[in-house]
Amino acid sequence: MSPRDKTASRDGQSASGRNSTVLDIGRPVTPTSSTNVPKPRDIDTPTVMAPRPVPNGKNTKSVFIKTYGCQMNVYDSERMADVLAPIGYAAVDTPDHADLVILNTCHIREKAAEKVYSELGRIRKHQKSNNPDMKVAVAGCVAQAEGAEIKRRAPVVDMVLGPQTYHRLPEMIAKVTRETGDVLETDFDTVEKFDALPAGRNAKGYSAFLTVQEGCDKFCTFCVVPYTRGAEVSRPVDQIVAEARSLASQGVREITLIGQNVDAYHADGPDGSQWGLGNLIRHLAKIGGIDRMRFTTSHPRDMDADLIETLATEPKLMPYLHLPVQAGSDRVLDAMNRGHTYAHYRDLIARIRAARPDIALSGDFIVGFPGETDQDFEDTMNCVREIGYASSFSFKYSVRPGTPGASLPRQVPEDVKSERLKRLQELLYMQQREWNESLIGKTLDVLVEGTARGDGQLFGRSPYLTGTHFDGPEELIGQIVPVTITSAGVNSLVGSIAKT
Ligand code: SAH
Ligand code: SF4
Ligand code: F3S
Repeated sequence: MSPRDKTASRDGQSASGRNSTVLDIGRPVTPTSSTNVPKPRDIDTPTVMAPRPVPNGKNTKSVFIKTYGCQMNVYDSERMADVLAPIGYAAVDTPDHADLVILNTCHIREKAAEKVYSELGRIRKHQKSNNPDMKVAVAGCVAQAEGAEIKRRAPVVDMVLGPQTYHRLPEMIAKVTRETGDVLETDFDTVEKFDALPAGRNAKGYSAFLTVQEGCDKFCTFCVVPYTRGAEVSRPVDQIVAEARSLASQGVREITLIGQNVDAYHADGPDGSQWGLGNLIRHLAKIGGIDRMRFTTSHPRDMDADLIETLATEPKLMPYLHLPVQAGSDRVLDAMNRGHTYAHYRDLIARIRAARPDIALSGDFIVGFPGETDQDFEDTMNCVREIGYASSFSFKYSVRPGTPGASLPRQVPEDVKSERLKRLQELLYMQQREWNESLIGKTLDVLVEGTARGDGQLFGRSPYLTGTHFDGPEELIGQIVPVTITSAGVNSLVGSIAKT
């Protein structure tokens, strides 16, 4: 039986059918979330890499890696750990006595970038009181965007390294430890990075990210990513296959293919023809041991018919799709340079739902883009009512210096942005809760990732990526277990192992 057969169906919930369901309720719901269930891709919550000894047991040094931002950074942090392990660095989960501290940073909103400077202040204290030889590196998108400015603001920093330079970490460390002088590496050679990173991964857990595409040529007028990650580059098929095999051989059962615009993936396939993402997914799905696949992040301009068809026909592809729309008003979409209208997005969703009726849809939204009127905002609310989301990420527009949006007239006042975000989130969280509640009584295949902190239960993810708790023995960790859902919150499900 394929995972889809066992899972809840959203049949009959067309865009318009769902519209009326949501409107009928019309009551604000206070979002409640289980404290130990991370949202699937919460780019505002940093994570600390769990301890991992070096594979040959020759730990001679320790590295603390803290990751801010999106899934690309999560992946990159793991790759940095892979590069550091052969030179003796074991990951530790506290900076207190670490030999090396790496902050892998995000520049997407002002707050994200500022968090890094407060963290550097704390790191300086650890360095002073515990380990004067501690080396400090700032990696990621703040490093790429601010370069040498970081050293000026935070002299504790020894190394500033942009996202395309991680394969050169060992030589940078050698430079700052053996020689005097700082390191600033912000070159933009994505191909060189992927060619130089080790083919094998030191995988942890049962679900892993795998970067297949990096960079973005879309230049949305609010966004820093094209400047911090460079132009769109796709990795060769054989490199991706080798990495997926390495993950599978270490027990990974679920792979999420990632890229800033993952649907733009294109490369020469082994058959000599150009492969898009659909082809790549079908090929990787043949690897033994890989039972589940996902991909993120999609762009409405790049989702092609083949990918939609793959969603319908590839049983290992999970019924979850993150497809940001940002806004419901064509005027705002145009000012954002999104390159599509709301009607295009709505038609695309209709085709996706026709292909995969049980798809859990997720989106990103920005409120308060310059010039957004009350009516434009209502268009976004109407978009949400019409489409219906199982999960979402919504943000107040944050001015990013150097992007075209920063110099647009009619910036929206902060209090208006806050009010709009509050209204939007009430609606989105209500839909999310409604979606989760619709799963009560259904049996879902849950990939068990570990124990839930504090409550002695197991924790895993449903096909819809929802965090799911249930009682069961620890031997089930790493297994895909049928769980009957008994209750639901905004961000999580609770259930019990299905009776056979
Ligand atoms: N395509 C990318 C998008 C990365 S940014 C991906 O791989 O996920 C994630 C989201 O942050 C965007 O979809 C957008 O909703 C939001 N965002 C980007 N720039 C922003 C800004 N200046 N202010 C507020 N939100 C922003
Ligand atoms: Fe940013 Fe737009 Fe590119 Fe996404 S598509 S990374 S929002 S510029
Ligand atoms: Fe942030 Fe860079 Fe990702 S700006 S969202 S870490 S691509």
